[in-house]
Parts: sequence; C-alpha cells; structure tokens
Amino acid sequence: MPQCRICGSAIEAFMSFGKMPISNGFLRPDEFDNEYFFELAPAICGNCAMLQIIEQPDPAKMFHENYAFFSGTSKYMKVHFAEFATAIQKHHLARYDDPFVVELGSNDGIMLRVFADENIRHLGIEPSKNVAEAACARGVNTICEFFSEDVATQIVLQHGQADALLAANVMCHIPDLASVAKGAQALLKPRGILVFEDPYLGDVVGKTSYDQIYDEHVFVFSALSVANAFGRHGFELVNVEPQITHGGSMRYTLAKKGAKQPSNAVALLIAKETELGMDRAETFDTFRQNCETSRDQLMAVLNDLREKGAKVAGYGATSKSTTVMNYCGITADHITFISDTTPTKQGKYSPGAHVPVRPYEEFIANYPHYTVLFAWNHSREIMEKEKDYTAAGGKWINFVPKVNIQE
Ligand code: SAH
Ligand code: TMP
Ligand code: ZN
Repeated sequence: MPQCRICGSAIEAFMSFGKMPISNGFLRPDEFDNEYFFELAPAICGNCAMLQIIEQPDPAKMFHENYAFFSGTSKYMKVHFAEFATAIQKHHLARYDDPFVVELGSNDGIMLRVFADENIRHLGIEPSKNVAEAACARGVNTICEFFSEDVATQIVLQHGQADALLAANVMCHIPDLASVAKGAQALLKPRGILVFEDPYLGDVVGKTSYDQIYDEHVFVFSALSVANAFGRHGFELVNVEPQITHGGSMRYTLAKKGAKQPSNAVALLIAKETELGMDRAETFDTFRQNCETSRDQLMAVLNDLREKGAKVAGYGATSKSTTVMNYCGITADHITFISDTTPTKQGKYSPGAHVPVRPYEEFIANYPHYTVLFAWNHSREIMEKEKDYTAAGGKWINFVPKVNIQE
C-alpha cells in the first residue's frame, strides 16, 4: 500500500488519469520512441488531508537545462508578481534594516527582479539552468540548485538568515516537503515568514480543473493540508489570501510557532474546507465522476468537429494540457496544432499526444474555426488579445469549469 508523503498513513488512489508523459517534455519526432511514461494517479490522505500523486517522475527528469516554462510569458503574471513583491516589501521587509529575501523556484526572476531593482538583498534558488541564467542576465542573484535543508544551511553560512522565504507555483512541486520545512526553519530569522502560493484544491474540486494534476504538481494544497504538513516542523499557518492566478490559487503565510498571531481568515477557511469535505474520500469520488463527464463531453465536441472537417487548434501548450490531451485521448486528428509563444516549445510536439506546437504567428495568419483554450488560466489576457479572432467568427472551446463552445 502506498504511504502518504507527509504523514506516512496508508493511501489509495481515488482515480487514475492513465499513463502520462513528462508534462513539459515537448519533443522531436526522433524522440517519440523513447518517451518516458508513468501512471498519474492521485490520492487524498484521510489523516492529514494532503492530495498527492502516488508516483512522481524523478525531479531531474522535469527540471533541467531545457526547462520549457518561462514565467515571463504572461503580462498579467508580471503584474501579479510585482504586486506580490511590493506587498512583502511594504508589510514585512520595510521594518527591517538591510532585509534579505529568498525565493524558491524563482525561474526567470519574474518576482525577484522587483527586489533587485530596489537594491534589496535577494537570492533565487532555481534548479533549471536555462531559466536561472535568464534571471542572472536580468541582474537577479540566482543559484542553480534544488532547495533542501543542506542548501538552506549553505545560504545561512554565506548570507545570514532571511526575513522572508517566498515561493510561487513551486512548493507543490517538491516531494520532500519535510526537507523544505526544515530548511525554512534553518533559513528564517525567528520572526521571518514563509509565504507561498499554489493552485488551490478548493478551486480544482469546485471547477473540475483536473488539469492542475500533472507530474510536476506532486501536491494540490488546501489550508488543512498546509497547516498539517508544516505544523509537523514548527510552523503555524498565520494567513491565507485567495488569488485569481492559475485558475484559483491560495497564498499561505507561515511563521515559526508562536511568533505571529494567526488571522481570522485561517480559521474561517479551515472551517469551510472541513464543511466542503476537502479531506474526505466521498468528495473525490464525486470529483472523479466530474472528470469523466468533462472528458466525455470534450471528446464528443472534438469528435463531432472532426467528422465535420472543421479546422481545430489549441491555444497554449501548457503543462496542464498534457493531462487533458492524454487523459481524454486528444490526437493530431482532432487538433491540427497548438499555438504557443514560447520559442523552446515551437517546432516540437506535445508530450504523449504528439500534436505539433507552432508559433503564435501561424495562428494569426490562418485562423482555425475552433480553438481549444488550453491556457484557460490566462483567459482574461487571451480574450483581450484575441478580439479579432472572435470578430472573425473564430470560436473557443472551453472545458473549465464546464465544456462549452463560446459563440
Ligand atoms: N515561480 C515561478 C515559476 C514556477 S515553475 C512562477 O510562478 O511563474 C516552478 C519552478 O520551480 C521551475 O522553474 C523549477 O525549475 C523550479 N523548481 C522545481 N523544484 C524545485 C526545488 N526543489 N527547489 C527550487 N526550485 C524548484
Ligand atoms: P501556464 O498555463 O503554465 O502559465 O502556461 C501558459 C502557456 O501558454 C505558455 O507556454 C505560454 C503560452 N501562452 C501563449 O502562447 N499565449 C498567451 O497569450 C499566454 C498568456 C500564454
Ligand atoms: Zn497524510
């Protein structure tokens, strides 16, 4: 029986999405035969409420010198991270002399550049070399490492303890959360804070956004599971702030036990999650049924369009779309290409389904009749940008929260 990665209790998958490739593993035709697959099967721990995938590929297979995701591709995410950094600066760092801020998974420096520009002492910990280099080139101090207790000890030796440890869309990637929590204890000053945000389980369940479950996302957090996981290592959840990013995220603030007074928002959210059953098997049984319905409806639409000979494309070769395409069985017969603005993805093929990824310019030059909005989490930005497509009669196919064709 598999064991919970947090508390060691026995866990069991509540569903399987089937065999999955590396979600950001865009590839060339000569690599198709050697593609790596694992079984994507999530479980909820009845003891500590952590949603987790049972099998996760080795992190070195996912985060390396050719990591395909550059944070800076979304203009709204740039604004979001500028606001995140400013809030930390104003509400926390401003009261200290010469503060020091560390970020895990700092990618191309989308958030730390704000601190760098203000001459605030900062350090990014980023294991994917290509994105780490992009950050350094932008003047953001970055070391190319996976964060761990050992790395934390090294940082303290070199730079002293930190006032804030930040992380966005990366804590849920790290299977050994105990090492992160112990590292954070060592790294932070007594009144230092650990602030991280990730896609929120309440949104995933509420919107059937099952595509948030993929290889990199070993966990999908709730306030319940975060309080339990970090509570085991001397941290207390002192604030929670919902975010609209990535289709619904939560920002968690943790402090060393007893250092800060928890806000009312924490107790309220924990009560709400308990009422909604975010720790109960029945909730995830319903979720599984909702995933199956979503899959069947999306395939009914795509099969119908294929029969009619309509030209269908995808928008955004997101890591999330790897789960959707491989779980639903979408192939290059359904979708002729996926448009994406990321140069390293262009000219390659999507993981598992092997749908060509083409430059955005091709989408503009030859509008498809229908477009599956894989990057639905950036919908506001994309709808603003693609008014001409809609005006020209192009239709969007959505699947979160419900499958529909947007007329
Ligand atoms: N914070 C950015 C990037 C998120 S993508 C944003 O929100 O847009 C996740 C990043 O975390 C990747 O760049 C990946 O290389 C990095 N990462 C993965 N495991 C890590 C670990 N153990 N320690 C630090 N960074 C890690
Ligand atoms: P994400 O959902 O993991 O943030 O990935 C978004 C992907 O979509 C990324 O590969 C960039 C791509 N993208 C576009 O092609 N056009 C856009 O307008 C946006 C916002 C993203
Ligand atoms: Zn557990």
